[in-house]
Order: sequence, then structure tokens, then C-alpha cells
Amino acid sequence: MSPHVRKAAVVAAAGTLVAGLAIYGSAQAQEEPVQPHDPPVTQQSTLRAAAEASGRFVGTAINDGLLSDPTYSSIASSEFSSVTAENVMKWEAVQPSQGSFDFSGGDRLVDFAQANDQQVWGHTLVWHSQLPGWVSGGGFGADELRGVMNDHIAEVAGHFAGEVAYWDVVNEAFNEDGTRRQSVFQTTLGDGYIAEAFRAADAADPNAKLCINDYNIEGVNAKSDGVYELVSSLLDQGVPIDCVGFQSHLIVGQVPGDLQQNIERFTELGVEVVLTEIDIRMTMPSDAAKLEQQRQDYETVVAACTAVPGCAGATVWGISDRDSWVPDVFPGEGAACPWDENYQRKPAYDGIVAGFGS
Ligand code: XIL
Repeated sequence: MSPHVRKAAVVAAAGTLVAGLAIYGSAQAQEEPVQPHDPPVTQQSTLRAAAEASGRFVGTAINDGLLSDPTYSSIASSEFSSVTAENVMKWEAVQPSQGSFDFSGGDRLVDFAQANDQQVWGHTLVWHSQLPGWVSGGGFGADELRGVMNDHIAEVAGHFAGEVAYWDVVNEAFNEDGTRRQSVFQTTLGDGYIAEAFRAADAADPNAKLCINDYNIEGVNAKSDGVYELVSSLLDQGVPIDCVGFQSHLIVGQVPGDLQQNIERFTELGVEVVLTEIDIRMTMPSDAAKLEQQRQDYETVVAACTAVPGCAGATVWGISDRDSWVPDVFPGEGAACPWDENYQRKPAYDGIVAGFGS
């Protein structure tokens, strides 16, 4: 049995356990035994229930600073079965200066997830952005930078080993034309740094599934072709790669028509696909027509995952429009999330439920 088959079996068993706890572990079941004449308990449906009915997970990015907000944390804990650290597991957060590690934010996320029977998605080990200056501008030679990268992976993936189900090992390594992004890792270490990063992550946490993650690879295009060629070649070399993350930062009315076909071609290589950072933004202000188009788009995107057995789940990048990164980065655009500024469900929420087939 290959190590990757073994990982899949472990995760499937963990999923069964979580489902069992959800049924038998509720406080209500212990304190208030159901009387024979009680009406059946009707539970409000959740994204989590819809995803589980399709055998998938549904996640969100968690903003560490908002976990103390009761509205935020109650939605985060009840609606999702997977959580990704929006920022606190990134290099600048965990190793801001060389050799000095801070896992406090990541540990808080793991505690939150464990308290709510959620999977943790690790994000991210090797990325050009939110990379501290001591790495990006450190002037390291190849041997030194290789050591810096491998140490970071060993420390971080090692710290969270057993607690993280998936890692984005390498994030955003490609240019739009399918060539490699000229990050400090690429320019100093050359093409082989990606294989090396995956091997280091596998050594640090043999049970986590290891992914490459990028944006604008949702459709079949030059960039996704570049990722496809890389994944094929890594698999040919026996590099431990398990999954490809399509970030899916999309624009209302512009979901690529070949999303499902693209998911299929990657899964046919033998890796999982996950939609890792979905948001679907619009030009502001929003209106009913745009919100209806957004509902359809969320449904289309999630349904493309649901249609392909190797697509394991879908994560939205944030809960509410109030907290989304979109307005900061795309001026004049926003309203990209499933909950509005007041934490009210938007039509997009129903689109996600429908996309999971519920
Ligand atoms: C974003 C966060 O949402 C922001 O809070 C932060 O300021 C910048 O990064 N692709 C990724 C994510 O892989 O890590 C990014 O998250 C969004 C784009």
C-alpha cells in the first residue's frame, strides 16, 4: 500500500469518528432524553451538513482576531467542518526572525478546530508573500536558503504534525503564462525547490496530505497547464504530492466554463483537488441582480467539485463581507462572501447548499 493510499484511509477513518461524535456527543442528548411523544428534533441545516451529505468537507478561512467575537465564532464552529488559518500559519507569523518560532495563533486555531470536530487545513509553508525580509532579502546562497526552507518546513509541519489534515506546501509558484514565478526560492534554488519542499513536508508530517495551491488555475489555461505538467512530473519522480488547491478567487459572472473539466483532468492524475479559498467578488455597490448571479456562481463552483469524486471539499475565504480581504486588495470590489456585513446569510449561502446537492 502506498503511503498516499494509507493517508486516505486514515482520514476516512477520522471522518467516521467525527461523524460518530457529532451524533452521540451532544450535550442535549445527555441532559434531555427524548420522550416518546416529543416531536422529532428539527435541526437548522448548515453548510457542514450539506457538505457531509455529499461526502465532502466545507471550510472557511479563520481570522484569528475575530475568534473572540461570539457571532463570528458561532458561525465558524457550526457551519464548517474544516478551518484554514487566514494568516497565523504563514512564514511571517510563525518565524518572524530566524530561529524564533511563534505557534500561538496556529495553536489557537487547532484548539478551536478540535473543540468543534473540525479538520485543520495548514496554510502555508513556502510562499513568496508574507515572507519576512530576513528570507526574501537575506542574500542567502543556495545551500543556506535550502537549509532555511527545510528548517522552516521541519519546524512548522513538525509542530502541527497529527493536527493538520492537509498542508499547502507551496503556494502561488506560477506566473500567468505557466512559467515559474521568480520568487527568492525559484531564483536561488531553481526548479527543484518544489520537489524538495514536498519531501521535507512529508518527512515532518507523513500523515498530512500535501498540496500545491494557486489562483487563476480554475479553468484550463496556460497557468493551470503549468501546474498540471509540474504535478505529472512530481508524481513520475515519486515526490509525495497528494492534492492541488484551486484558490478560486473569482468574479461574479465569470466562473470558468471548464472548471469541472479541469478538476477532472487533475484527479485523473491521481491527486485530489480542493477549492481552497473561494470568494466571488463584484463591483460595488451590490444589488439584487448581482447577488442572484453570485448565488448561481457559488452553486456552479461547488457543484463542479461535487460532480467529481476526487474533489474532496471546498473552503470559502472568510465568512462575512465585513471581514473579507477583497476590498483591501481589489479597490471598488467586494461583497464576495456568503454572509453579509451584518452576518446575515446571503443568497450565496443557498448556492453553496445547492452546489453540494442538498
Ligand atoms: C490574504 C489574507 O486574507 C489577508 O488577510 C492578508 O492580508 C493577505 O493574504 N491567496 C492566499 C491567501 O493564498 O493567503 C491570501 O490571504 C489571499 C490570496
